[in-house]
Amino acid sequence: MENPNGTGAKVLTNAEVEARVEVILAGLSLSEKVGQLTQVGGTTFIEGPKPEDVIRRGGAGSVLWLNDTQKFNALQRIAVEESPSGIPLLFALDVIHGYRTIFPVPLAMAASWDPTVPERAQAVAAKEARAAGLHWTFGPMLDIARDARWGRIVEGAGEDPHLGAAMAAAQVRGFQGDRLGAPDRVVACAKHFAGYGASDGGRDYDPVYLPEGLLRNVYFPPFHAAVEAGVGTFMSAYMDLNDVPASGNRWLLRDVLRGEWGFKGFVVSDALAVGNLVTQGFARDRRDAAFRALSAGLDMDMASNTYPEHLEELVDSGALSVELIDDAVRAILAVKVRMGLFEQPYADEGLLEQVVASPEHRTAARLAAQRSMVLLRNEGALLPLDKGIKNLAVIGTLANSKSATEGSWMVFGHIPAAVTVLEGIRAKLPDATITYAPGPEIEREFPSMFDILMPDPNKPAPQTPEQAEVAFQQAVDTARGADLVVMVLGEHANMSGEAASRASLDLPGRQEELLKAVVALGKPVVLVLLNGRPLSITWAAENVPAIVEAWEPGTEGGHAVADILFGDVNPGGKLPVTFPRKGSHAPLYYARNLTHSPEGSRAYNPRYWDGLPTPLYPFGFGLSYTTFEIANVSVSTARMKVGETLTVTADVTNTGRVAGDEVVQLYIHQRAGSDTRPMRELKGFERVTLQPGETRTVTFQLGPSALRYWSTSRGAWVQDAAEFDIWVGSDSLATLHAEFRVES
Ligand code: GLC
Repeated sequence: MENPNGTGAKVLTNAEVEARVEVILAGLSLSEKVGQLTQVGGTTFIEGPKPEDVIRRGGAGSVLWLNDTQKFNALQRIAVEESPSGIPLLFALDVIHGYRTIFPVPLAMAASWDPTVPERAQAVAAKEARAAGLHWTFGPMLDIARDARWGRIVEGAGEDPHLGAAMAAAQVRGFQGDRLGAPDRVVACAKHFAGYGASDGGRDYDPVYLPEGLLRNVYFPPFHAAVEAGVGTFMSAYMDLNDVPASGNRWLLRDVLRGEWGFKGFVVSDALAVGNLVTQGFARDRRDAAFRALSAGLDMDMASNTYPEHLEELVDSGALSVELIDDAVRAILAVKVRMGLFEQPYADEGLLEQVVASPEHRTAARLAAQRSMVLLRNEGALLPLDKGIKNLAVIGTLANSKSATEGSWMVFGHIPAAVTVLEGIRAKLPDATITYAPGPEIEREFPSMFDILMPDPNKPAPQTPEQAEVAFQQAVDTARGADLVVMVLGEHANMSGEAASRASLDLPGRQEELLKAVVALGKPVVLVLLNGRPLSITWAAENVPAIVEAWEPGTEGGHAVADILFGDVNPGGKLPVTFPRKGSHAPLYYARNLTHSPEGSRAYNPRYWDGLPTPLYPFGFGLSYTTFEIANVSVSTARMKVGETLTVTADVTNTGRVAGDEVVQLYIHQRAGSDTRPMRELKGFERVTLQPGETRTVTFQLGPSALRYWSTSRGAWVQDAAEFDIWVGSDSLATLHAEFRVES
C-alpha cells in the first residue's frame, strides 16, 4: 500500500509492524530492552551520564533536550553503527507552537475557534522539526485549565472540553498527518495525562483532586480525542491525582488509557517524574519507583535514570515480569518502525534551511495570528484606525520584544525572530511618524526556571526604581507628542508557561499606572494585549476605548496586529477561557452548576460581598468590526428517544457594512437528571465568514455522544431522559433559546 502522505515509502500494515517488532525484540538482551525504555538528556543541564556512552552500550532508546542536526546524526551513528543491536534513537523536543516559524501560542490558536488553524500550524511545525532531525514532539498539551493563575494555561486550549477536544484532534492530525510515517511529520504526544490544569490554587505542580465525574466529563475529552485521532504517544503528568501520582497511576495509564480507550502507543513520563515518585512521598525508594511506574503502565523514563538503575534487577529477582518490559519495548519499537527510522535513521543536514525559507510558512503564521486575535472593546468604532494617521506613539516594553511576541514555550535553543508590534505598525505606515517608548520594565518577582537553567548572557541588569521612573516619564512625554497612542501591555513570555503561576491577574509592574497616565492625556488610546493567560484589566475595560487581545502571536505577530489595527483584517476570534475580574475569583468558568441560589434569581446572594465574580469577559466572547444577528433557532424535533439525534439550526446574518467572521456557538443545559448538570455546556460551534447582508444557516447535531455524561450517582456513562434548554449565540451568555425533551 502506498504511503498516503505521498512519499513512496511502503506503509506497513499493523501485522507487518508487529512482525518486525517481534523479530527485533527477540534479538535484544534484557539490558538493551531496558535501554529502549530509557530517554536521556542530550545536554548537560540535567545531571547524568554522557549520552554518547549510554547510547554506545544500547542504554538509551531516545534523546531529548538536544536541538542540533549534526549532533543528532552523530548520536544516531553511535546507536545504529556501534551499539549491540543498532536500534535507532527517537529524537524528541518540545515543539509546542512552531519550530523555527513560530505560531501563536496554543491558547491563542484555540481563540480562532477554527481547527484548521492549529492543524496547519502543527503541520508546518512538524515539517520544520523533522527537517532538523527531530522525530517526536512533546505536544499537543491538552490540559483543560479553569484557573487563569496557572501558568501553563497558555499551552492548552482553555477551559472547555468540547473546544479542547476539537483542538486536540486537529493538532494530532497536523503533527502526524493521517498516519505515522511520512518523512515530513513527527510523532505527537498527548500531555499531561491527566488533570494537571486543576492544581490547587493554580499553583503549578501542586496536587490535584478531581472526582471521577469531573475527570471524565471535563478533563479527559481532549485526551480521548487525541487517541481517536491516532496520537502515537502520551505523557504522564507530574502531580498527584487524588493522592496517586499520574506517573504511577495504574487506573489512568492501564485501565482508562489502554483498557477503555484502546490506546496502542507508548507513555513517556514527564521530566524526572519516575525518580520523583520518591520525592512526592509515593515510592519508598528509586527501586520501588521503577517497579510501580512500569507496573502502572509507564513505558519510558524521561531522564530520571531510574529505569536503567533498577529494572534489570527487578526482573532478575522475579519482582517484575519480563513480559511487562517486553510490552513496553514493543510499543516503542512499533513507533520507530512506523516512522521508518530503521530505513532512514539520519537527517539531511541541509534540509532545514530549505524548508524554513518557504514563504508559505510565514504566511500560515500570519494568518493564524490574525484568526486568533480577539476584539474585546471598540467604543465609538475607534478601530480600525485610519492609515492616513500622521503621528502615532507606541508605548510599552512588550511592543518591541521579540520574545514576548513569540511567547511561552520556545523550542530549546530557539532565538526569537518575531516581527514585533512596533515593527508591524511601522511596516504598515511607512510614511507616518511613529514614536516609541518602552516605559518601565516588567519583571517576575522570582526568576523563571528556564532563565536559571538557560541564562541569557545578553539580559540587561534589572531596572532600578529611578531608571523606571525616568522611563515612565519618557513614555508619557512620548505619548503627549502624538495624535494617537497604541499601548502594548501584558506579560513577558516567561510570565506564563511552566513554573510560571501567579497569584494576581493584574498587569504586572507599573503598566496600569502608565496606561492611566497616558489615558489622562485625553488622546485616543488603543490597548493591545500580549499575554499568555486571562488578565484582570478591569480599569482598561471601562476607560480604554479599544482593546485587542493579541495573546503571544508568534513570528508574524507584529504584522498581524497591524493588519487588525488598520482594518486589513476584521478580527473574528473568541475567548477560549473566561477573563475574571480578579485573580482571587479564580477558578472561574462558564460551565458551572446552578446551585440552590442561582445567580440573578430572587434568592441570589452575591458569592462575595466585596464584588461580583461575574466574568470581565465571558467564555466565547469576541467583537468584530461588523455586526451580526443570530436568529430563527429551531430543533428538528421537540421530543426524541434516548439514543436518537436531533438537528439544531439557526440563521446568522452580517448586519454591518464590512465582511467578517462570526463564531456561532451552541450550548445545552439538561434541566434535571441522574446528576446535576452544568447550567451551560458548549456542544457545537462553527466559524463562518459573511459578506455584508449575507445570511447563512448553521446546523448542529445533538445525539447520544453530546448528551451522555459520566454520572457520579450511577458510577457509569448515562444518557438521561430529560428536558433540555439550548441557546445559540456569539458567546456563552447567548440568549436565543429553544428546548427539547428526551424520553426513555
Ligand atoms: C517539562 C514539561 C513537559 C515537557 C518536558 C520535556 O518539565 O512539564 O511539558 O514536555 O519537561 O521538556
